[in-house]
Amino acid sequence: MTPEEFQRIGHQLINWIADYRTKIGEFPVMSRLEPGTIRARLPKKPPEISESLDISLLEDLESIIIPGLTHWNHPNFFAYFPANASLASVLGDILSTGLGVQGMSWQTSPAATELEEVVVDWMRQLVGLPENFVGVIHDTASTANLVALLCARERITNHAQVRGGLQAEPSPLVVYTSDQSHSSIEKAALLAGFGRMNVRSIETDDKHAMRVDTLELAIKTDMECGLRPCAVVATIGTTATTALDPLDKIAYIAQTYGLWLHVDAALAGSAMILPECRHMWSGVEEADSLVWNPHKWLGAAFDCSLYYVRDPEHLTRVMSTNPSYLQTTADGQVKNFRDWGIPLSRRFRALKLWLLIRSEGVIRLRERLRCDLENAQWLREQVDATPNWERLAPVPLQTVCVRYVPSGMTPDEVDTHTLEWVSRINLSGKAYLTTAKLKGRWTVRVSIGAELTESHHVEALWQLMRCEAEEFLIDGSD
Ligand SMILES: Cc1ncc(COP(=O)(O)O)c(C=O)c1O
Repeated sequence: MTPEEFQRIGHQLINWIADYRTKIGEFPVMSRLEPGTIRARLPKKPPEISESLDISLLEDLESIIIPGLTHWNHPNFFAYFPANASLASVLGDILSTGLGVQGMSWQTSPAATELEEVVVDWMRQLVGLPENFVGVIHDTASTANLVALLCARERITNHAQVRGGLQAEPSPLVVYTSDQSHSSIEKAALLAGFGRMNVRSIETDDKHAMRVDTLELAIKTDMECGLRPCAVVATIGTTATTALDPLDKIAYIAQTYGLWLHVDAALAGSAMILPECRHMWSGVEEADSLVWNPHKWLGAAFDCSLYYVRDPEHLTRVMSTNPSYLQTTADGQVKNFRDWGIPLSRRFRALKLWLLIRSEGVIRLRERLRCDLENAQWLREQVDATPNWERLAPVPLQTVCVRYVPSGMTPDEVDTHTLEWVSRINLSGKAYLTTAKLKGRWTVRVSIGAELTESHHVEALWQLMRCEAEEFLIDGSD
């Protein structure tokens, strides 16, 4: 493609994206296609001859791609978590790809490294983390969680990786996390070689937060059995209910027993731009490492995850390799971000944060998040005031976990009914909700915070939920 063609088709594409975003609310939120539909519309073989993208690309986007999309930026998207690819950050992402540079070392693009340093520090200030927290951008929280457990493993073993690794350690190392923590924590522990037998899933209390008495007991029991407690992962804003593990108490236990403390605030980190929310992670300054995802709720387009540590030297000692072909004359005076994580090649992700913060400004970002919190509280009040509706968790953030429990139904029947009415809503295309199991029973998670969601969308959703859960039942057609 020539620069001229790029300019022409690129303009068409930008216009098309802008139109898509303008009319996004008109689409069914969840794609309702049968599996294989999109594949069947695509050629089985790659084209031999070059084709003009001028017309065919936009036509194919409309006819093939759009029907196969679930619209994460739709105002009636209440599933999983708010993704919010704000348009300013989309421009940053386009810029990153357009520049096509690689930020593995400072010298491979000094701007990529230095903008990342600055923007990551802006973000640190925005959420009120202490100055001794130094950060880096990763793709996802899953990667950051793995990096954290690798660092924990290497600290307790005094860098066993340069000797016989875990295989030569005299006793197994143990990781502790709550039974509500994200699956990426267990995955990270398994990938880091701890072994499932050495991952303790600590019981949670009636607010779905980690029980510190159970944590301490588990640590003591493991020590008595000759095991080595290594790391504890606390979650601020668990995936199912946004529960808040008691971080200050967990930090105290981590210090007492010499454990690495990693904080997973993948979603809730965004809320910490609001000073009034910061009590939720009180004790965070004691963490050894922390992750939060500006690609959740804040507005950074996928993928953008911030990983902060208190001891960057330890991080780079664990992560760095230094083959001759990567050495540069600037080494020693600069950060080479390849030594701060797993991948060698690094996209210029800082651009999308830079553009997002500049375009929105902190004040507007805060206003938006406060509206989402208010909308969640409004929904909480409705649920609490309506007979037969149950709220299954506190609502510290933007997620409301609910269930409709008609009188006379057994718990199994309620589960079946719950899955059915949510599925009806999703298939209707009017809104998209997801479910999760809490203490063995299905609950509906209403996750508020898409950039376009306003209070009237939440009000309409509540009417829809009541209609599908209650009236369908009264009609006798369930
Ligand atoms: C608490 C928590 N941690 C980690 C993750 C994984 O995030 P990512 O998709 O960035 O790997 C999630 C995803 O929802 C999450 O809720």
